[in-house]
Amino acid sequence: MRYFLTLFVLAVIGAVSILGFRGDKSRKPPRMAEIFPDLNIQPKLRPQTVTKFEGFPDGASSRPFPAGTVAQSVGFNNNTAWEDTPVNTGRDAKGFVEVNPLPVTADLLKRGQERFNIYCQPCHGAQGDANGGIVKKLGASTVANLQDPRIIKMNDGEIFNTISYGKSTMMGYAGQVPVSDRWAIIAYVRALQLSRLGFKDDVPAPVLEKLK
Ligand code: HEC
Repeated sequence: MRYFLTLFVLAVIGAVSILGFRGDKSRKPPRMAEIFPDLNIQPKLRPQTVTKFEGFPDGASSRPFPAGTVAQSVGFNNNTAWEDTPVNTGRDAKGFVEVNPLPVTADLLKRGQERFNIYCQPCHGAQGDANGGIVKKLGASTVANLQDPRIIKMNDGEIFNTISYGKSTMMGYAGQVPVSDRWAIIAYVRALQLSRLGFKDDVPAPVLEKLK
């Protein structure tokens, strides 16, 4: 009992000095050698500081772009991907844009058809009616039917948002499908929907002849 108090106080001081200062923030390396340093301490440069590294004769830690570097997204539609324009976000001040901001041309539809068949058709099916191979062969049952009246009535901007960021179990395709292609796909999805909504009178007479 005589030594107990002394030992106890020493044990408390020991425990606090070893464990008590974990989580403290400091830019200096810890005073006590770390037992398992892992990757806590490693050489690196902080941005916008001076370095003595010989490889950088100008002494700046932040490096300039190599000559000839071109920003990935400049050049499309006189637009830049970081600007919050309807083309880039599918939204304007009022919310999702109602119609495709790109002019819908035959070329755009053709591109949309090609991209749709690559990126959407496996799930949503060639007609958009949730009949793709993933549904038929693998039994994915939650794939949305793009011929559904709810999606027919949906603004183009909201479909743009779904392609960009996904929707519950559907992942986003922003990484694979660039902005212009998303709008091309939307134009093609509208064409697919229209193909189911058409009446006999919509078919030009010479074509109708051949169908008979
Ligand atoms: C891997 C399968 C898969 C692919 C590929 C896929 N989707 Fe989907 N998509 C789904 C599923 C599953 C849903 C239903 C998500 C849910 O539960 O609401 C869905 C839903 C949708 C919806 C409805 C969203 C809503 O608000 O209800 C739209 C529109 C859509 N997809 C468009 C596309 C387009 C355009 C592409 C091609 C760029 C595409 N999808 C690619 C699986 C897929």
